[in-house]
Amino acid sequence: MKHIALYPGSFDPFTNGHLDILKRATNLFEKVIVTVAVNNEKESIFNGKERIRLIEECLTGTPWGARVKITQFTGLLVDHAKKMGAHTLIRGVRQISDFEYEFRMALTNKRLAPNIDTIFLMPDEQLTFISASLVKEVAFWGGDLNSFVPKHVEKALKEKLQNSSP
Ligand code: PNS
Repeated sequence: MKHIALYPGSFDPFTNGHLDILKRATNLFEKVIVTVAVNNEKESIFNGKERIRLIEECLTGTPWGARVKITQFTGLLVDHAKKMGAHTLIRGVRQISDFEYEFRMALTNKRLAPNIDTIFLMPDEQLTFISASLVKEVAFWGGDLNSFVPKHVEKALKEKLQNSSP
């Protein structure tokens, strides 16, 4: 098993599902680099720095957080993986409908960088319904996000939506 894995995503915002996958990845790899894609910053609710800060807060007090590094990237994921010395990409797959997109992405990355493999991890089954887009929708309409995202993410979402409302 290689030592460094890269866990990429938009993480806009980081959910309890992402946190569960990250924790599982740290059980498998010595070091996990979470990397926030900032290719489409304009369409995101949080900017790259904010997303990184929210992820950092999730690590506080965990026994595995010291082995996690958080970065951001623009451009091709495999280029960033090479720069970071990672030969493994981690992606979470919640249900079979995720798989088609994930499979195409993994094959594209493999064609671009044959030495980099993708590993799919499943979250706890109680978290399989959570997606960042649904989180944003529930937040927008003022729903309870307690079981979707960590407390500080819920707070940040509320503040962001309050400040952005006309
Ligand atoms: O959380 P997401 O939005 O499903 O993450 C997708 C992401 C950011 C990992 C993917 O879109 C990506 O790697 N984008 C960078 C551009 C790239 O390398 N594209 C080729 C692989 S499809």
